[in-house]
Amino acid sequence: MDKYEKINKLKCEKDTVILAHYYVDGAVQKAADFVGDSYALAKKAAGVSQQNILFAGVSFMGESAKLLNPGKHVYMADPCAGCKMADMVTPNDVKNIKKCYPDAAVVCYVNSTAAVKAVSDVCVTSSNAVRVVRKLKEKQIYFIPDAHLAQFVAKEAPEKEFIFHNGYCPTHQQITKEGLLRAKAAHPGALTLSHPECKEEILALSDFVGSTADIIRFAREHEANEYLVATETGVFYQLEQENPGKEFFPVLKEQVCPDMKLITLDKLEYILGHLDTQQEIILDGELIDKAKKPLERMLLLAE
Ligand code: 13P
Ligand code: SF4
Repeated sequence: MDKYEKINKLKCEKDTVILAHYYVDGAVQKAADFVGDSYALAKKAAGVSQQNILFAGVSFMGESAKLLNPGKHVYMADPCAGCKMADMVTPNDVKNIKKCYPDAAVVCYVNSTAAVKAVSDVCVTSSNAVRVVRKLKEKQIYFIPDAHLAQFVAKEAPEKEFIFHNGYCPTHQQITKEGLLRAKAAHPGALTLSHPECKEEILALSDFVGSTADIIRFAREHEANEYLVATETGVFYQLEQENPGKEFFPVLKEQVCPDMKLITLDKLEYILGHLDTQQEIILDGELIDKAKKPLERMLLLAE
């Protein structure tokens, strides 16, 4: 039996579904029942029928799955896989801003801890942030934690007034204008597809800006043969699977999220064999009640 057969057998025996983000290794995506961007994963997690969810992604994704489906057991493929950006805002930051801007809506990127979600008004992901923000009645928006996504949304929703936080994704932050110009010179015919976690100077030079799923959709539907992709290199697995005749190049070879790369096939197999509380997401009932509200509101407003 090869590793995939062993994992499939264990999934059935343990009544477990594996959900994976596009940033984990292709070999891990291949073992998953569902692969998606953060929005699709949240929607999927809210409706799975299996008793156990094994998350191949980082901690905020597993927490969101638990918040949206608290009756299920949610396990992390590697409990040490966190998100550096999620740790850049605290509940105290939100409380302090609320004192200065009592009328502002606190819009929380899903890349955040459950404790921060609990003090926020609504969550967003990169694929629905513009849509959700435009539907809010508040004019002032305190957008946490990602400053770059906030700037992107602010441009698309000029009717709103934004208060920015100073968070960023270290993986996307290292993609520079100089690096992109060099990559464009090396691939003059390529279209540039970027994630809104990139700096404004990158988005300004891009042909398309969107979430991981949006980038994959754009490449599938567009007839161009070459693409420069400014986001984590895990997306190349899906891009290459779906588009055998097309070529995809990273802007920099360092576009890698070390936390996403902690997830391996061996860890999936081990955790399926030992579903125990060390890998399980355990959240206090009161925290679940508070933190799930902005996520549920996102799912309603994003439709
Ligand atoms: P999306 O999958 O929503 O594009 O999010 C990217 C991300 O940073 C996940 O960590
Ligand atoms: Fe967080 Fe960036 Fe890694 Fe996504 S790629 S999990 S935003 S550190």
